Amino acid sequence: MTWAPFALTVTVVLSAGVATPAEARQRDADPRKVIVDADPGIDDAMAILFALRSPALEVLGITTVFGNAHIDMGTANALRLVELAGRDVPVARGAAHPLILPLAPPPEFVHGTDGLGNIAQSEPTRQPIEASAAEFIVSTARRYPGEVTLLAIGRLTNLALALALEPRLPALVREVVLMGGSASAGGNVTPVAEANIWGDPHAADIVLGASWKVTMVGLDVTTSVRLGDDRLERMAARDPRVGGFVYRITRFYKQFHDSMGVTGGFYVHDPSAVAYLIDPGIFSTDKARVRVVTEGIAMGQTIADSATRAQRWDAFKGRPEVTVCRDVDGDRLLRLFETTLTP
Ligand code: BDR
Ligand code: CA
Repeated sequence: MTWAPFALTVTVVLSAGVATPAEARQRDADPRKVIVDADPGIDDAMAILFALRSPALEVLGITTVFGNAHIDMGTANALRLVELAGRDVPVARGAAHPLILPLAPPPEFVHGTDGLGNIAQSEPTRQPIEASAAEFIVSTARRYPGEVTLLAIGRLTNLALALALEPRLPALVREVVLMGGSASAGGNVTPVAEANIWGDPHAADIVLGASWKVTMVGLDVTTSVRLGDDRLERMAARDPRVGGFVYRITRFYKQFHDSMGVTGGFYVHDPSAVAYLIDPGIFSTDKARVRVVTEGIAMGQTIADSATRAQRWDAFKGRPEVTVCRDVDGDRLLRLFETTLTP
């Protein structure tokens, strides 16, 4: 096993981003400022719409990354989603390939050739902004020090690039919540690797090792919740535009899950991370230091070293504690998704 071949030096600047108690109270009462970093992607699309419709969140922008679709396709999908939601939210195009590894073909068998379940969509009418995803993340974090949450639901490449661009980023953002990894549930791309981590393991090891507050919403929780057609049909009937869109894009995704023997619906990986932001009480968590295997047959595996282990293995020394979601109230999560997306 080897680790990321380069390390980022992250300087923690204590003065930036540290709120007074009064500022922190005010911040907690306001909608939470969020940048959604995504690779849309069917479940990304559900997550983006979920976040855009939540009164608890203020989506400052959507940044895109390769993954479920090539970067141009994923960026066009993000633009389509903000249009569908009727929101004026900037979209910044991000990384087209991993930091070090060659680009793997997108999983068209999961998300379709267009990333959104092959439902023949029209061209987006909007354009991405000039700034790259990493530049947008950095400039927004500088604009609102201590306030911005990064919700990462794709490969972690943009976040790693943003850290390289601004080493003070961990002190500037409020926290990172990511969908990815697996502490003890095994993998979904390989027996041990989850897709977002496997797709750029070097970036993931950097992000999970930086000195910011990170929460990992991984397969440990996302594979124990299934969204069924009864709920989706109800959502489509209540809101034919947005609920109906979610119903249509998920037909392909459902077929994939059916073919994998998943019964009772399909996994809502990325929306689970949005649910964590809105209502973390839906999840139970513990703490661990997490490393990512960057090559070999276990590439993309997240190794979580429990906080209670007395003896610390050298590879984990100096790593920050990550909050790892371990259990979830699935009914509560699905109810939140339904009532927020189609009130
Ligand atoms: C993750 O991989 C992607 O295919 C999904 O969008 C989700 O972010 C699940 O492993
Ligand atoms: Ca995703």
